[in-house]
Amino acid sequence: MMSADASSNLRYLIWGEGGWIADQLKNLMLKQGKDVHSTAVRMQNIDEVRKILDEIKPDRVIICAGKTGRPNVDWCEDHKMDTIESNVLGTLMLAGECANRKIHTIVLATGCIYRSEYSADRTKILSRPFKETDPANFNGSFYSETKAYVEGMLRHYEGVLVLRLRMPVSDDLHPRSFVTKIKSYARVVNVPNSHSILHDLLPLIPIFAEHKETGVLNFTNPGAASHNEVLELYAEIVEPGFTWENFTLEEQAKVIKADRSNCELDCGKLLGLVEGYREEGYEVEVPEIHEAYRRCFARMKAGEQSRAGAGVV
Ligand SMILES: NC(=O)c1ccc[n+]([C@@H]2O[C@H](COP(=O)([O-])OP(=O)(O)OC[C@H]3O[C@@H](n4cnc5c(N)ncnc54)[C@H](OP(=O)(O)O)[C@@H]3O)[C@@H](O)[C@H]2O)c1
Repeated sequence: MMSADASSNLRYLIWGEGGWIADQLKNLMLKQGKDVHSTAVRMQNIDEVRKILDEIKPDRVIICAGKTGRPNVDWCEDHKMDTIESNVLGTLMLAGECANRKIHTIVLATGCIYRSEYSADRTKILSRPFKETDPANFNGSFYSETKAYVEGMLRHYEGVLVLRLRMPVSDDLHPRSFVTKIKSYARVVNVPNSHSILHDLLPLIPIFAEHKETGVLNFTNPGAASHNEVLELYAEIVEPGFTWENFTLEEQAKVIKADRSNCELDCGKLLGLVEGYREEGYEVEVPEIHEAYRRCFARMKAGEQSRAGAGVV
């Protein structure tokens, strides 16, 4: 995807080197010919933070760092101090240092701070999608609690854009991708949710950074897709014959430590911005979630076929 700012001289610094999204974003921006650097310096180590900012002198910082937990966010329940240190203190210290230096900063955050209302069988969403201005209404996991708290604080920082991702999906079967996760579970719940197809969304990040967008933004494809809809599309396009078993949210609750957020985010603000950038000549598009999944799985299939053709297993 080309952007109209290919000649931009801005220097970008991505925080969270080695992380799943940080590395994808860096590769994308390198392909776009951008002057992009990355670091794994601990955000809460202010001396190290100042040193690397002095050294690299970035015009823009993109924070993709944070404790997400391994194998999942249940880790945060048992490591609350580590989670606070990174997701709260670290994020605020780094964003604060950037604000003091007047460096525009983007923070990758989460939409998992909401819970939608569902029909009794959980197949339909009864409440309206959450807007950026709606207060958080889900704190069933410590991870979500830290993220909601930090977002509330970051709203007061100048020159900061907070992007709320949900259930991010890559075009490959990376273990961190939502599709890979639900494919690997013995049983999976079936609840409509907002999802972020990274192929569609990551290219917007350098554009938002260049134009110094600020505030809070729901960063998902529009609409909501259920787990079964996702897996049906996966079986149709990528792996015919793939099957899975469902269980209820109540049954799921017995095998996880922290509660999980299920919700739909309102993408009106995001789509308005995307439309504006398209009018300026940027080739960006954020398709409705079912169409986005169709395209994602078609790219996944094509990627598999080209690797098989090249003899790479
Ligand atoms: N993946 C998802 O499902 C999802 C969904 C919504 C939002 N997000 C958000 O998107 C961001 C990136 O997620 P991701 O999936 O790329 O996570 P990831 O693969 O876990 O990467 C996060 C990176 O941040 C590093 N990190 C953690 N604490 C740090 C600190 N205090 N200072 C510097 N680096 C630190 C981690 O290194 P160590 O492991 O060595 O600490 C890791 O390399 C996170 O903020 C996450 O909350 C992710």
